[in-house]
Amino acid sequence: MPAQSGSGISRSDVLRLAAIALRESGLRIDESKADFLLARLGSRIAELGLSSFSDYAAHLESAGGGGEMSRFIESITTHTTEFFRERAQYDWLAAQGIPSLWSAGVGRSRDLVVWSAACSTGQELYSAAMILEDLALRAMRGLRWRGIGTDISRAVLEPAALAVYRIDEIGAIPSGFRVQSLLHGRRDPRLVRFRPEIRRRTEWRRANLCVAGDLEGIRCDVIFLRNVLIYSDAEMRRRILRNVVACLQPAGYLLTGHSEPIEAASYGLVSLRPSVYRKAGG
Ligand SMILES: C[S@@+](CC[C@H](N)C(=O)[O-])C[C@H]1O[C@@H](n2cnc3c(N)ncnc32)[C@H](O)[C@@H]1O
Repeated sequence: MPAQSGSGISRSDVLRLAAIALRESGLRIDESKADFLLARLGSRIAELGLSSFSDYAAHLESAGGGGEMSRFIESITTHTTEFFRERAQYDWLAAQGIPSLWSAGVGRSRDLVVWSAACSTGQELYSAAMILEDLALRAMRGLRWRGIGTDISRAVLEPAALAVYRIDEIGAIPSGFRVQSLLHGRRDPRLVRFRPEIRRRTEWRRANLCVAGDLEGIRCDVIFLRNVLIYSDAEMRRRILRNVVACLQPAGYLLTGHSEPIEAASYGLVSLRPSVYRKAGG
C-alpha cells in the first residue's frame, strides 16, 4: 500500500485507527483494510467537519473524543447473524447440553442461564430461548431459565429487546417453534414478534468482552461466544476468553463458532466436540 493513497487515507492512518480499535474493542483491522475504513468512516469525518483521517484519529484520542469512540466502534463492527446459525450446536444443546444440566439439578431450584456474549440483533439468544421454552413445556416441565444478551454495540440491543423480525428472516426456525414462540403482526403481517413469555425471560445490555468489569454479575450455564473471536488478535482472544469463562458455572458449556477453535485446557475447559467445551468441576 502506498504511504498515502489517492483516496485520502495513509498507511499510518490505518495503523493508528487499527491500534485504537484493538485497544478499545479487541477488533483487529488489517493493514490492507484502507477501503473498509474509507467506506465506514468517510461520511462521518465529513459530518464532523474534519479534513482527514489523521484529524479523526487525533479527535478520537483527544480528551473531548470520548463520545466519538463508541460511534467509531459501532462503525467498524459487523453484525451478521441468523436464527439457528450453525444448527448442529442447537441440536446438541437440545439433545445433550440442557438435559445434562437439568439432570444435575440446574433449572430446578435456580434458573438455568444462557448468555449470548456477542448477541448482535438477538437471533442467537432467541434460538436458544425457543429450545428452552419447548423443553420447559414438554420434557422438562417446570424448567426455570433466563437469557442474557450482551454486545459492544448499543445499536443492536434495541432491536434485540424489541424482538420483532421480518418473516423472511425466520425460515430456519422449525415450524413447531414458530407456532409456539412467535406472534404475527396485526398491523403488518410481514412481521413477527416473540411472545411475552419469552421476552420477559431475556435481558439485554451493553458489554465489551475485553473489559472484565462490564461482565460483572453474569453467572451462567451456557455461553454462546460465536463469530466474535475471529475479529481479534491472539492476545485479545485470550483476554476475552479469560473474562468470559470466568462467568461460566462449573460444568457449564461454552459454544464457539466453527472457525474459532480454542486451547481448551488453558481456560479450564474440556473439549467435547468441535466448538463445544465444558468447564471443569461441578
Ligand atoms: C458477526 S456478529 C456475531 C453474532 C452472533 N454471535 C452470531 O454468531 O450469529 C459479531 C458481534 O460481536 C460484537 N462484538 C464485537 N466485538 C465485541 C466486544 N469486544 N465485546 C462485545 N461484543 C463485541 C459485534 O458488535 C457484533 O454484533
